[in-house]
Amino acid sequence: MTQEHGSGGLAAALAALSTVETLETFGRVTAIRGLLVEVAGPVSAMRLGGRIDVVVEGGHGAATATVPCEVIGFAGDRALAMPFGSLEGVRRGCPALVRDEAAGAIRPSAAWLGRTVDALGRPIDGLGPLPQGPAIYPLRADPPPAHGRRRVGPPLDLGVRCINTFLTMCRGQRMGIFAGSGVGKSVLLSMLARYTAADVAVIGLVGERGREVQEFLQDDLGAAGLARSVVVVATSDEPVLMRRNAAYVTLAIAEYFRDQGAQVLCMIDSITRFAMAQRDIGLAGGEPPTAKGYTPTVFSELPRLLERAGPGVGEGAISGLFTVLVEGDDHNEPVADAVRGILDGHIVMERRIAEQGRYPAINVLRSVSRTMPRACDPAHLPTVRRARKVLATYADMEELIRLGAYRAGSSPEVDEAVALMPDLTAFLGQGKEEATSIGEGYARLAAIVGGG
Ligand SMILES: Nc1ncnc2c1ncn2[C@@H]1O[C@H](COP(=O)(O)OP(=O)(O)OP(=O)(O)O)[C@@H](O)[C@H]1O
Ligand SMILES: [Mg+2]
Repeated sequence: MTQEHGSGGLAAALAALSTVETLETFGRVTAIRGLLVEVAGPVSAMRLGGRIDVVVEGGHGAATATVPCEVIGFAGDRALAMPFGSLEGVRRGCPALVRDEAAGAIRPSAAWLGRTVDALGRPIDGLGPLPQGPAIYPLRADPPPAHGRRRVGPPLDLGVRCINTFLTMCRGQRMGIFAGSGVGKSVLLSMLARYTAADVAVIGLVGERGREVQEFLQDDLGAAGLARSVVVVATSDEPVLMRRNAAYVTLAIAEYFRDQGAQVLCMIDSITRFAMAQRDIGLAGGEPPTAKGYTPTVFSELPRLLERAGPGVGEGAISGLFTVLVEGDDHNEPVADAVRGILDGHIVMERRIAEQGRYPAINVLRSVSRTMPRACDPAHLPTVRRARKVLATYADMEELIRLGAYRAGSSPEVDEAVALMPDLTAFLGQGKEEATSIGEGYARLAAIVGGG
């Protein structure tokens, strides 16, 4: 066969193929157990992570509706699927259309900036349809190959002086923000979203209270912050699959902008709610609960998700900030432990500090940025060391000082710490409408503790 014949034949075959009608494969709903839908039928045509649409025929003239589901497991000759929406109206015997696609993929474009989407990438801000981009981004992508990845870049100016100076974060670095409820995570995230020297911010609100979403968008983020952001929302009342996938969608959108060469700030509030959603999916599918009720897949999905942030193989990078809820301020609970091990640093926020009225309520001494020793300009290191030492000295003696049990003059070091503390406290606090660059931050810190 000659080359010409070959390509002609192929073209003809393709033309013929396009006229063939695609066959639809159906299964049937046999049971609903809690969050799960069991589907019998051509199980071999279904795959893990694949999509099934349960068709609900509306009786009495009501329209037919479909409930999209994702296959999360198999048991015997049944597929186990979980819905993205309400199962209201689903009956035994409902047809289940097996779709030849992964349950989740999106096609982001630059026009998504300033918009708010749900966990399926659909607009929910009432601003009309969302223009789709040319490339398909799967929700569950693999992280870039470790050997092809760039290293973390130069320091990233976050606009928050306490983090900029003591916990410098680099482009492509991933940090966790650990805090109990109501300690100021959301306000800090909104400051970071507005002030960080990044091109784009992608913000995933996972499992938030519905009321808080509007507050965050309008009061905290504001019009200017939103203009360079894409916000992904799955509130606490949404199905568990939506809450988990909101985190995936957030990363997928960040990956799109990274591939465009942008510096992306990716934030998820909170990773704990993602882990809880994954736990509920695992438990429904029959996984055994292990650490504090969390199932094994929680701890395999966390690194798969968090590793997607970081430097890429090209110009763009995803710098990641992920909040972790530490209930009862227990910093050793399993999710906090796992996340701390995966990320390149952690920022610890404390209720005690918030109660003193210092926001952001960051405990510098308990926080770490693992790239800091290499990232920080060596000229500033003495200033940082001195300031840390003063903070540590004061923290050691704080109880005694407050009780009046420390007598001035007993230790020159403590005396100095007591004298510097008011200025340092003022430095560590920052109003939410205020931004401070890295350079300004170091200059101010040097003016307080000397050195520099
Ligand atoms: N920088 C700040 N300046 C002044 N007040 C602040 C600041 N940050 C937080 N607060 C106060 O703390 C409150 C709680 O903050 P925020 O909603 O960010 O907490 P959270 O940790 O996100 O809470 P939750 O766990 O409920 O989501 C705010 O309503 C505000 O009063
Ligand atoms: Mg919050």
